[in-house]
Amino acid sequence: MKLLRTGVDDLPALQACFFASVSVLTAKDYTPEQRRAWVSRGLDHAETWRSKLGSQFGWKAIENETVQGFILLVPQDNLIDWLYVSPAAANSGVATHLLWELERTARTLGMPHLETHASITAQPFFERRGYALVEKEEVDTGSCVLPRALMRKSLQA
Ligand SMILES: CC(C)(COP(=O)(O)OP(=O)(O)OC[C@H]1O[C@@H](n2cnc3c(N)ncnc32)[C@H](O)[C@@H]1OP(=O)(O)O)[C@@H](O)C(=O)NCCC(=O)NCCS
Repeated sequence: MKLLRTGVDDLPALQACFFASVSVLTAKDYTPEQRRAWVSRGLDHAETWRSKLGSQFGWKAIENETVQGFILLVPQDNLIDWLYVSPAAANSGVATHLLWELERTARTLGMPHLETHASITAQPFFERRGYALVEKEEVDTGSCVLPRALMRKSLQA
């Protein structure tokens, strides 16, 4: 597996990965209605995706020319904005590698801490990597409510 920077040309492949990731991997924590709302909130905003993909701080994990997962850092907000892994690649270390690369970059940039709005599915993953719960959150999609968790990790020794 190799990690590469994302670019605007990655839009279809990363949206496909996002769709599969949310649809399959969050099924134990979110209802079908909640997953549909999450996916449409994500896929409805192609322009936002393009501008994020063109940022300097997105990475994709590639194996056999296929996207296995991706992550995005928003340095000005100390924020991990995306972390999605394809169901076929789950539990093989993809997210761990993506997060290591992001944290390495965040430290190089001198960021004091990182935050993320973690899904219920991802909360244990982040906890095991040193992120603590700050507060529980709810996103109102209009049709339903999506629970999530604001989590933070200090990058200072
Ligand atoms: C949460 C999520 C990102 C985790 O991705 P992942 O690639 O499966 O995570 P990893 O494989 O790195 O780690 C998960 C487990 O796999 C196992 N694992 C890790 N590396 C491994 C390896 N090299 N070989 C075998 N198993 C491994 C470990 O048991 C690990 O568990 P741990 O947390 O106790 O260490 C993924 O489930 C996902 O995309 N979920 C849906 C979308 C979502 O909720 N995204 C977060 C939005 S904030």
